[in-house]
Amino acid sequence: MHNEQSPYDAVAYPSYSYPDTHPNRLAAMATLHGLSPAPVEHCRVLEVACNEGANLIPMAYAIPQSEFVGFDLARVPVERGQQRIRELGLTNIRIFEGDLLDVGAELGQFDYILAHGLYAWVSEPVRDRLLAICGQLLTPNGAAFVSYDALPGGHLRKMTREMMLFGTKDIAGPQERVIEARALLQLVLEARPEGDAYRLLLAKQVESMEKRSAQSIYHDELGQQYHPVLFTEFVQHASRHGLQYLSEASLPPPNDPGSQPDFKRAAESAVGSDVLKQEQMMDFARMRVFRETLLCRAECAVRRDFAAQDMRRLLLTSQAVSSPGQAAGAKVFTSPSGVKLETNHTGVIALLEMLEAASPHALGLEELEPQLVEAGLSLDAEGAAVLMQLAVPRLITFHAWKAPLAQEISVRPRASAISRQDAALRPYATTLLHATSSLSEPVARRLLLLLDGTRDRAGLLEAMKAAFPDVPGEELATQLERGLSVFYRAALLEA
Ligand SMILES: C[S@@+](CC[C@H](N)C(=O)[O-])C[C@H]1O[C@@H](n2cnc3c(N)ncnc32)[C@H](O)[C@@H]1O
Repeated sequence: MHNEQSPYDAVAYPSYSYPDTHPNRLAAMATLHGLSPAPVEHCRVLEVACNEGANLIPMAYAIPQSEFVGFDLARVPVERGQQRIRELGLTNIRIFEGDLLDVGAELGQFDYILAHGLYAWVSEPVRDRLLAICGQLLTPNGAAFVSYDALPGGHLRKMTREMMLFGTKDIAGPQERVIEARALLQLVLEARPEGDAYRLLLAKQVESMEKRSAQSIYHDELGQQYHPVLFTEFVQHASRHGLQYLSEASLPPPNDPGSQPDFKRAAESAVGSDVLKQEQMMDFARMRVFRETLLCRAECAVRRDFAAQDMRRLLLTSQAVSSPGQAAGAKVFTSPSGVKLETNHTGVIALLEMLEAASPHALGLEELEPQLVEAGLSLDAEGAAVLMQLAVPRLITFHAWKAPLAQEISVRPRASAISRQDAALRPYATTLLHATSSLSEPVARRLLLLLDGTRDRAGLLEAMKAAFPDVPGEELATQLERGLSVFYRAALLEA
């Protein structure tokens, strides 16, 4: 056991829930690729380097019949996580202090193994052990999630990191190091003329760092290790442990070079039909910085044609909102991120309207099929391609699990205990669908904390008036109704 104080004990790492690591996501991606993963409702999940469990604990809360195990080298965050688990009374999760180099078969087999933010930041033996553990502990239909910094984008991060490390090697205090490191980059940047290519590259790095906390810069930029890798190197490494590339944890964005026919043709003529080499070519064009790769056992038969028969095994949600279109019979659907689709395809309109009415609940595609066929969307190869065209810009999302959401805003609404625990600690909360919901408005944050299922509307309003005596009652009543509706749609209210 490793007992030295870890930098993660001294400086807390800002941990979140990562939707791409959720077993629901892994199972949906595995199913879309022709696998038959374990049901999310009854599975075993291992998170390596779980830190304080900010990712794992909300999963365990939302999926009570599944079992969750996590471990991390750093004692202090693990103890924080254990305290949260005790407060929530969860019995399906265990997190412990442990070194990846020491754990193994005693943990048993897992349907899903997760390692977020580890691979690129540890030494070669630890990186190798991570993939060895995935190879040893993954069930035959299991899927592992491993995120890592990729090349060529990682070269840029490496360049700025080296300067930051050079300029701060004699500074001991974490906060002072971050301040100095940022100042140094700014100094170098300003030494270059406006419009200069090097200045632009540095400016991009500085800009992306400005959005991040000092703690994350301290660990991620100024940490001991940094090893970004080529995608193909990573996959070769995984293959030495009996694993193969399944997919990324999320579908590529609509503007991806992979969806540009000219680039796709050129890449194919350069590297042939090898999917991995094609992906590598895409990474060069994407200037890829970060990957969230899913792995499965080498024996699994992976399909890459997104077949309707696999989609039928899944559920769908949509957060898109409909409005009338310009042309007769057309409708416009707008996603929360602003993607707009104007369509007069009756099948697509029927699908998106049914999902809009059900939102935030998921609907099974197989059950929807008769109505879709009647509306003109058959689930054949062409229909499957239409669904993928909706999935890529996130107008629809595939799921393998129904989250335990409230059916409606009840008389005494209850927000999940995990979101209330979050709200007591910080201005954001994890939803039952494993997303992060902002609570930057004090009124919204207080309202969430009050939603423990004991208060009706009058009781809630009374408590809000006591908390915000300077805000007029009418305004609070409006904010109460709006807040409940936002929380319901954001999957914060539980069944
Ligand atoms: C960048 S943090 C990522 C934490 C968390 N997975 C996340 O993404 O928010 C890296 C974590 O890896 C842990 N770690 C590093 N080496 C480890 C090892 N050999 N065994 C277990 N955990 C390790 C650190 O203690 C730290 O919590």
